[in-house]
Amino acid sequence: MLIDTFGRTATDLRVSLTDRCNLRCTYCMPEEGLQWLAKPDLLTDDEIVRLVRIAVTDLGITEVRFTGGEPLLRPGLVGIVERVAALEPRPKTSLTTNGIGLRRTAQALKDAGLDRVNVSLDTLRPEVFKALTRRDRHQDVLDGLAAAREAGLTPVKVNAVLMPGLNDDEAPELLAWAVDHGYELRFIEQMPLDAQHGWKREGMITAGDILEALRTRFTLAPEDGSARGSAPAERWVVDGGPHRVGVIASVTRPFCRACDRTRLTADGQVRTCLFATEETDLRAALRSDAPDGEISRIWRQAMWGKKAGSGLDDPSFLQPERPMSAIGG
Ligand code: GTP
Ligand code: 5AD
Ligand code: SF4
Repeated sequence: MLIDTFGRTATDLRVSLTDRCNLRCTYCMPEEGLQWLAKPDLLTDDEIVRLVRIAVTDLGITEVRFTGGEPLLRPGLVGIVERVAALEPRPKTSLTTNGIGLRRTAQALKDAGLDRVNVSLDTLRPEVFKALTRRDRHQDVLDGLAAAREAGLTPVKVNAVLMPGLNDDEAPELLAWAVDHGYELRFIEQMPLDAQHGWKREGMITAGDILEALRTRFTLAPEDGSARGSAPAERWVVDGGPHRVGVIASVTRPFCRACDRTRLTADGQVRTCLFATEETDLRAALRSDAPDGEISRIWRQAMWGKKAGSGLDDPSFLQPERPMSAIGG
């Protein structure tokens, strides 16, 4: 088991498969991209599968989410999913993607054993998409979403970040569209994890703002509190049901007390939190032929360093050195 000093148990592993991305979302990275990890520094497919196997068979992980950067850019993705889904006990598997390329890969991912996907889409307007992501790929994302639904990678969840002056007027429109297409929409408060360090709390669209905007067009009733568990999203029942909308309010309503996550970066570092400032090197252990038991021990010990919370409200808060795209969200 992966237990921290506050008594939380991590059962959910988020694995970043690459730090690269084919979009350049303004809240994430600069136009020119970032200094990507070098190939020899990345875990190989075999190394990833070995670590996930140890996590599942020895450390109590029951859910594995693949992230990026953009995980569809990882050439071995389908094979990795297939090998992870074949583990005993079988973990639940999911993928968080920007959706580009999903049209081609959704069925193969489903066949490999992937359970579901979350797709990032912040706007319904192609020109706004282009301004926000600096790429003209809106239709590719819509096609990818439809392919995921058709392949049965459900529930398909859509993640939207609202940015002032860009898409903050779109909340009701996005919800009407998601209800219509059978996607579960979640709004995410923007977090200070951009590579440019440009985040400002004052400009941020809050959960409160989002709910107020949605209530101009929908009735929202809080979902029974017990249903949330350790999920970052708080959910509301839309117009009496059955549709739901979620808000991930990491900044104004943090959920750290219920956190059940541990993370692995594409270069084999354990992160105990999105906002952790320290990492634990599993790649070095892997590459010095450490036995499984030693890797488990290092991972367990890493969790003892997990902090109580993100520290976002502390005056001394420091943004982690690794940007979101290299952590995996
Ligand atoms: P499901 O609800 O199980 O589908 O997953 P999820 O919402 O945890 O995953 P997803 O990858 O779609 O992430 C949505 C948003 O939640 C992203 O902005 C993540 O960065 C954020 N998020 C995920 N895990 C954490 C966490 O441990 N802490 C914080 N503050 N945010 C998180
Ligand atoms: N704050 C909040 N969410 C972010 N994402 C990327 N960067 C940020 C940020 N700074 C979102 C993406 C994706 C998810 C993994 O995280 O839009 O949906
Ligand atoms: Fe790529 Fe996701 Fe960052 Fe956008 S938020 S640039 S899709 S890694």
